[in-house]
Amino acid sequence: MRSIFFRNGVVYALDSSKLPYRESWLRLTSSRQVASAIRRMQIRGAPLIGVAAAYGLSLEALRYGGSDVEKLKKRILKASEELRLARPTGRNLGWAVERCLRKMEEAKTVKDLKKRLLEEAGRIADEDVETNLRIARNGLELVRDGDRILTHCNTGGLGTVEYGTALGIIRLAWEEGRRISVLATETRPLLQGARLTAWELKKYGVPFKLICDSMAGYVMARGMVDKVLVGADRILATGHVANKIGTLTLAVLAKHYGVPFYVAAPSSTFDLSTKPSDIPIEERDPSEVTHFLGRLITVEGVEVINPAFDVTPPELISGIITEKGIIQPPYGENIKT
Ligand code: MRU
Repeated sequence: MRSIFFRNGVVYALDSSKLPYRESWLRLTSSRQVASAIRRMQIRGAPLIGVAAAYGLSLEALRYGGSDVEKLKKRILKASEELRLARPTGRNLGWAVERCLRKMEEAKTVKDLKKRLLEEAGRIADEDVETNLRIARNGLELVRDGDRILTHCNTGGLGTVEYGTALGIIRLAWEEGRRISVLATETRPLLQGARLTAWELKKYGVPFKLICDSMAGYVMARGMVDKVLVGADRILATGHVANKIGTLTLAVLAKHYGVPFYVAAPSSTFDLSTKPSDIPIEERDPSEVTHFLGRLITVEGVEVINPAFDVTPPELISGIITEKGIIQPPYGENIKT
């Protein structure tokens, strides 16, 4: 099942914020609605955000009733800026928008522009599925029968169009008959692990246990983890990986306890021009930390920091699995354009 698709002028996306309670579909008809769904994390996961942004630009074009192609191009550019700002850390968003804007440049008429954008969005969505299957096949060589794999956040079919990256490898390994089991971190503050990864693993029938983020040290110290497998939002030429907050903690623990730590992501997550100190880290609303299920869980007026992502340095990463193969250290030399 795809978590996003286009039909008759409407983009349908599975609303991640309602899971695991309800499978409800967003019905999106403008790029503004897409940007809002991304900001509110109804659509989330770096690759899926990229695909949604591409569809958002298409929706913006389809809404235009005029015949002035230059005017429409200006509208699309404006919409692209709003989309880019929706969530700044993941590279796939900028990558998808740039792909669509390149297609736009060649268009000579409004009709042509609408067609080009819709085709490009569809291509980006189809490629995401293909890419994930390749990542899964490449990652399979790292998974041994009986492996106990710890994963963080949600990197499955709910964070991509279909199948997923790190969770895609886990899914394929299980489907191929490897008797693996998973430890899924709950992933505070928004619980993507508890709500989404648990929902997916249960559906696929993969044996798993849920742990609080703060239990990661305990399980590694007790020898209960054979490898850690996570996704990524942005990977630099140096091998620095921005991913869900808490990833860095897991990587440090894994290094300490000698547990291999792998990252899985498509090429569209790579950013070969930004320096580690310049990665834009999204800071989210304090209420995500101070409230739980709508209720205040701390003292009134408390100050909070709420970065959505952290950056793991290359020396903590055993390998990066992409659709092209597995990149080994030294990443500075082995990550190519
Ligand atoms: O804030 P989120 O839920 O969008 O963060 C998601 C992650 O950090 C994932 O690991 C990453 O986007 C890859 S999803 C295939």
